[in-house]
Amino acid sequence: MVVFNLTQFSGKELTALPENGRIPRNLVGIGGRINTVSDTILELKKIKKSFGGNTVLNGLDISIGRGEFLTLLGASGCGKTTTLRIIAGLEQPDGGDILLDGESILSKEPNRRNVNTVFQNYALFPNMNVEKNIGYGLKIRKRPKEEIRRRVKEMLEMVQLPGFEKRMPDELSGGQRQRVAIARAVINQPQVLLLDEPLGALDLKLRRQMQLELKRLQKKLGITFIYITHDQEEAINMSDRIAVMRNGVFEQIGTPNEIYDHPETSYVADFVGNANIYRTPDKTYAIRSENILLGGEPECMIPAVVEEKSFAGGQLRILFALEDGQKITASRYGIDYDLNTGERIAIGWKEASAAEVIDNG
Ligand SMILES: Nc1ncnc2c1ncn2[C@@H]1O[C@H](COP(=O)(O)OP(=O)(O)OP(=O)(O)O)[C@@H](O)[C@H]1O
Ligand SMILES: [Mg+2]
Repeated sequence: MVVFNLTQFSGKELTALPENGRIPRNLVGIGGRINTVSDTILELKKIKKSFGGNTVLNGLDISIGRGEFLTLLGASGCGKTTTLRIIAGLEQPDGGDILLDGESILSKEPNRRNVNTVFQNYALFPNMNVEKNIGYGLKIRKRPKEEIRRRVKEMLEMVQLPGFEKRMPDELSGGQRQRVAIARAVINQPQVLLLDEPLGALDLKLRRQMQLELKRLQKKLGITFIYITHDQEEAINMSDRIAVMRNGVFEQIGTPNEIYDHPETSYVADFVGNANIYRTPDKTYAIRSENILLGGEPECMIPAVVEEKSFAGGQLRILFALEDGQKITASRYGIDYDLNTGERIAIGWKEASAAEVIDNG
């Protein structure tokens, strides 16, 4: 592994992160919001945006901590890319403000905001080799050739592509191109790095590997990441906090634990980790499939019929139909579970594993 010397890399001190790279718990308030002003790097205040009369962002509010890894998670079309484009200055909001280090950046040109973006479609310059691609930002800032060469080399080691300087983009695999794109964005030492599904085009194995590399890089450099993904596992693995977005608002902002174990709405419970939604006449609960008990325990009081069994991702999933027509899925590791389709049993769950949620579909 390359051990990277920060002061050598940056030529100036970068803000160090705590050991584990996470925002200390005492800086996280209700709903996971950061409420200590001095640790806030970026603030979105009531950001609104419409396209041709269609409201796309409907008052986004969030404070993002210095060195935080924040993920925007949400269904296609909910406004994630538009949010990043507005932060980057590629799009103007219709209302609201964006503060970087306490100062509004709305009137600043994109290249004068200390923010860089990595898009999903690599967007390397096709006629430049890897070295020129990565060094581009330093070249236009007229840094000396020797410094550019040295820092490009350091970047290539960091993204584990040493010796790739002279390759052209069309001589690289998708994953290698994406690593070059990340190196090219990071070399400019932005305060905030915006990443729009940067691993979206990679196969699963490379994706998992790059997740670890990216997270390690982010911790090491202390750069704030705002990261978009569709992949809830990726969001849970990588983020300090997740902002679940729906129809242009943040429906819940919290640590992966808060979002997974204490979803506030039925939408969040279902979208992140496909929780069961169980409705009684006056309340709605979210219960994870792994917490459904299958007979034999005192909590098992709900008659159910096994409707379907399927196996995926090392887990057996058993779909039950309840007498009132509701469906509940239970999951267990391993393939061997002694229940057949059509069988009747009583299921249930411990009170502590049912989170009461607002029912919003
Ligand atoms: N320039 C534009 N003109 C008109 N409508 C736009 C424009 N850009 C985005 N939209 C619309 O705004 C909505 C949000 O788009 P956005 O790209 O932010 O979604 P997203 O959350 O990034 O989705 P995905 O996960 O599919 O990338 C969509 O309905 C989209 O069609
Ligand atoms: Mg998008």
